[in-house]
Amino acid sequence: MRLVHRGQLQLLLTLSVVLVSLWMLYPLSCPRRGWSPTYSLSNSWLEYTDDDGVPEKVCNCSAILQGEREALDQAKSLIITEDFQKSVRIPDEYYINATQDCSEFRLRRKYLMSPLSQEEEDFPLAYSIVVHQKVQNFERLLRAIYAPQNIYCVHVDKKSDVSVFAAIQAITSCFPNVFMVSKPLSVVYGHWSRVQADINCMADLYNISTEWKYLMNLCGQDFPLKTNLEIVRMLRSLRGGNSMQSEQTPDDKKSRVTNVHEIIDGKIQETSKKKRPPPFNLPILAGNAYIVVSRGYIRSVLEDNRIPALIEWSKDTYAAEEFFWATIQRMPGVPGSTWPNRKYDVTDLNAIARLVKWEAHEGPQGSLQSVYTECHGHHVRGICVYGAGDLQWMVEQHHLFANKFDIDRDPIAVYCLEKYLRHKALAGAD
Ligand SMILES: *[C@@H]1O[C@H](CO)[C@@H](O)[C@H](O)[C@H]1NC(C)=O
Ligand SMILES: *[C@@H]1O[C@H](CO)[C@@H](O)[C@H](O)[C@H]1NC(C)=O
Ligand SMILES: *[C@@H]1O[C@H](CO)[C@@H](O)[C@H](O)[C@H]1NC(C)=O
Repeated sequence: MRLVHRGQLQLLLTLSVVLVSLWMLYPLSCPRRGWSPTYSLSNSWLEYTDDDGVPEKVCNCSAILQGEREALDQAKSLIITEDFQKSVRIPDEYYINATQDCSEFRLRRKYLMSPLSQEEEDFPLAYSIVVHQKVQNFERLLRAIYAPQNIYCVHVDKKSDVSVFAAIQAITSCFPNVFMVSKPLSVVYGHWSRVQADINCMADLYNISTEWKYLMNLCGQDFPLKTNLEIVRMLRSLRGGNSMQSEQTPDDKKSRVTNVHEIIDGKIQETSKKKRPPPFNLPILAGNAYIVVSRGYIRSVLEDNRIPALIEWSKDTYAAEEFFWATIQRMPGVPGSTWPNRKYDVTDLNAIARLVKWEAHEGPQGSLQSVYTECHGHHVRGICVYGAGDLQWMVEQHHLFANKFDIDRDPIAVYCLEKYLRHKALAGAD
């Protein structure tokens, strides 16, 4: 059995009741802000421990996070054994059943059901999450970023398996602040629909809550590198600015926006027909699908009267998610934007939105050509799907999230990262 047994759960419950009572008996002069021993004591049951009974527990995460050779080799040989792979896999049906009793599910999975600090409570965040498969990845991601003061919109692709949709819907139904997008789409790779899926979530998030300060968009294979408190602090330090890649379009990507594209046999294809120039002669900038933006930026996306023209113009381009957000980020008048002069260009490494290891930029340490060292996992479409060996480097970066992870291929990477983050969150970060 992967998760705690009922008996252990009762024990945990009893323990937490005792701890909470102890906490309440403590002098009321105890400050709520900041860190006191009582705070850690009452929350310590929320640490991920070996008692959770997960198969990954045989790994030594502190050694892995320090990049120790022996521990990494051990992890590497473990994840390729069939028994281990089988024990880690969780079928979609599990989630449908386990979420029938929501309070037990939240408890058993150790979701944080109260804000860890006043500072976080005062700075609620919004998340748009676009998913099409791998429910376990999604659930681990949600658990890592979940906080009751935040709000989460989930877009499940209309083409997804029925069991994926049902499992994710069941999970979201256990949280009042996590909901399914009101207008789900069928997303075609490279097509405008990828951007529209995010916009649909953004519109719902904007409509449902006026509280949140910043929005981040994620996919099911992202994972945080920071705790909620660290994210809040980094966002506050942006002082209303947005953070995303936004730079000159490289020559080899120009035809994506100069030529008309069409969907043929469910796949997007470039034609020889030339497109009109962009509306209002907007400079088209290059970026990626993932952004960290203020509420004001989202208001512009939804209400600025230049945007509908940009949307219409974008519909027959290729991979609009790689220029749409970056272009809006350089439109004068958009809150948190910067002037479209080259001097304000930002690369993916300088932005905090997303850490991606591109195969083309990997290379030996110390080489001027290489941006980072080789991927310790495997590659999918030129992107590193991280292995446990990438963790030490990853947690030293300033990015809020990293892409991509795949629990089916390297469960240790996610396991050690989530354990590290939870421990840091409960200890108060920094
Ligand atoms: C895990 O690794 C750390 C760091 O090398 C070491 O101090 C610790 O003793 C190890 N723990 C176990 C249970 O082997
Ligand atoms: C369904 O979930 C309940 C607890 O929520 C558990 O006791 C039961 O064994 C589960 N059934 C299956 C078939 O997994
Ligand atoms: C949200 O959308 C609904 C339906 O479109 C609308 O009636 C409602 O006024 C909106 N709420 C807010 C807060 O904008």
